[in-house]
Amino acid sequence: MGRGWVYRSNTHANENCYIRANRDRFRTRVTNSAGAMKRSRTELESVSARTLEHYDERADAFWEGTRAHDVSQNIAALLDAIEGEAPFTILDLGCGPGRDLKTFRELGHVAVGLEGSARFAAMARSFSGCEVWQQDFLAMHLPAGAFDGVFANASLFHVPMQELPRVLEELHAALRSGGVLFSSNPHGEDTEGWSRGRFGAYLRLDTWRRYVSGAGFVELGHYYRPPGLPRAQQPWLATVWRKASASHGRDHGA
Ligand SMILES: C[S@@+](CC[C@H](N)C(=O)[O-])C[C@H]1O[C@@H](n2cnc3c(N)ncnc32)[C@H](O)[C@@H]1O
Repeated sequence: MGRGWVYRSNTHANENCYIRANRDRFRTRVTNSAGAMKRSRTELESVSARTLEHYDERADAFWEGTRAHDVSQNIAALLDAIEGEAPFTILDLGCGPGRDLKTFRELGHVAVGLEGSARFAAMARSFSGCEVWQQDFLAMHLPAGAFDGVFANASLFHVPMQELPRVLEELHAALRSGGVLFSSNPHGEDTEGWSRGRFGAYLRLDTWRRYVSGAGFVELGHYYRPPGLPRAQQPWLATVWRKASASHGRDHGA
């Protein structure tokens, strides 16, 4: 187990443990959206490289800690929102070692993973039997209009705020018209920075809404996790979005 990693159980309590520990450690470099300096291309490459190196080095411990993690609520939120006949084609963005890819596949869907860590990508291919593209969130090459759904479980918070509009627009373009984006991120007070080797952005609901709707999505709903706890003990914000059809405003083609 890496010294910085505490996301290690399938219990909701440990979801909280994960985010509390991150917030407690989130002291090294914190900026807010108003005061943030624009990062250069080189700095952005370093954000990805250092974060992915962190995951790569802890790949086995991460897998042991998260393989039984219950995210059925999130998977159902995505699949229930997709209109049309199953099976669906799903992009699992930041698929990690492949837990959810396997679930989508077992449910009869066509799931493709996108993952920046070489070790996770290999583990995910082996565990799920799905195709996994090793790509950086900040330099993606995605087919246009190819997916019915994008499942971004605990992954988009690794994208620096300044790059979020572009990354979200790329996901929008990769969805078919009417396709659905699911995202779950730890929420916060619009801060971003380094926490022991991993970069994270922690946004308010309103801020997150501005980013995602600005990329051409319409909100279908949101909820906090884990379910059934007071808000103060729900660090995860799950949101579900539809790519509006061309007749309903902005559409990036696809
Ligand atoms: C908290 S883990 C979540 C993994 C998985 N979705 C889950 O729910 O267990 C974040 C994932 O995002 C990936 N990731 C982080 N930064 C990335 C980047 N710049 N490009 C591609 N993948 C990245 C990590 O390697 C890791 O698999």
